[in-house]
Amino acid sequence: MKILVATEKPFAKKAVDGIREIFDEAGYEVVLLEKYSDKQQLLDAVADAEGLIVRSDKVTAEVLDAAKKLKIVVRAGAGYDNVDLEAATAHGVVVMNTPGQNANAVAELTIAMMIFMARNGFTPGTGMEVRGKRLGIVAYGAIGRIVADVADGLGMYVHVYSRPNPNKIRLYAKHLRRDDTLEQMFTESNFVSLHMPSTPETKGMIGYDLIKLMPQGGVLINTARKELIDEQGLIRAFEERPDLKYVTDIAPVAIEEMKEKFGNRVFATSKKMGAETAEANMNAGLAAARQIVGYLRDGNNEFQVNN
Ligand code: 3PG
Repeated sequence: MKILVATEKPFAKKAVDGIREIFDEAGYEVVLLEKYSDKQQLLDAVADAEGLIVRSDKVTAEVLDAAKKLKIVVRAGAGYDNVDLEAATAHGVVVMNTPGQNANAVAELTIAMMIFMARNGFTPGTGMEVRGKRLGIVAYGAIGRIVADVADGLGMYVHVYSRPNPNKIRLYAKHLRRDDTLEQMFTESNFVSLHMPSTPETKGMIGYDLIKLMPQGGVLINTARKELIDEQGLIRAFEERPDLKYVTDIAPVAIEEMKEKFGNRVFATSKKMGAETAEANMNAGLAAARQIVGYLRDGNNEFQVNN
């Protein structure tokens, strides 16, 4: 049984060693394809694999066509918008994610980015403190909950918005408040942080109409997906509001235009680094390996995301 670990952005060595150990014990062969630059390398490597672990690597219909023996793909991470679910289902391939496994790493980066922007990107000048400020968290899943807890500890007022049924959310910390609309959240929050997946419903969800509502000096934080932002809408709002800032872990398509127009009011990491901790790599990588063994050996399809 051959398992391919295809990670253009490799896992930490310790995580790779742990993944190998799990598959060795199960008697499966592991093939590593790391830092590959050409899609053809993935198409060749996947041809005889029965299991596949990826990170943000794109698992398209073409990849699935090439993977004649494939039974399962596990996206070691939360968002599985990089996997063509329909094509996987059509090929009889099970798709899973590893929910929550890298949530703490992303939440910590979110808090770091918030303070980084509050202190003017660590450049000279007067910044602001976050204590007593309002943080709006859009989507209260595994990451949103940790961000809420930490922000509560920092003395912030935390607003939470979650679809589809905000009434069902249980709020734990004492300063948490549920907002019924995004308009309400954007109007009152000094910082707004996005934690929803990229789906047809969330694409372009955050644009001019919401961003322009933010209070003076508002900061939008995106450690989720670039597709959530209507970039031209953001640009328009930022042109009208020279006080607003945007910090993101996923470079916008229009990053050059944004840098030129807004300078250090916009900051984007050069490569997505939310899940780039040894701990997150271990958690997500090992969970992915265990889920593959669990499925191939025992038929356990917990965490399956396609039908
Ligand atoms: C996720 O959806 O889990 C994160 O975006 C992490 O993605 P990565 O594994 O490519 O770093």
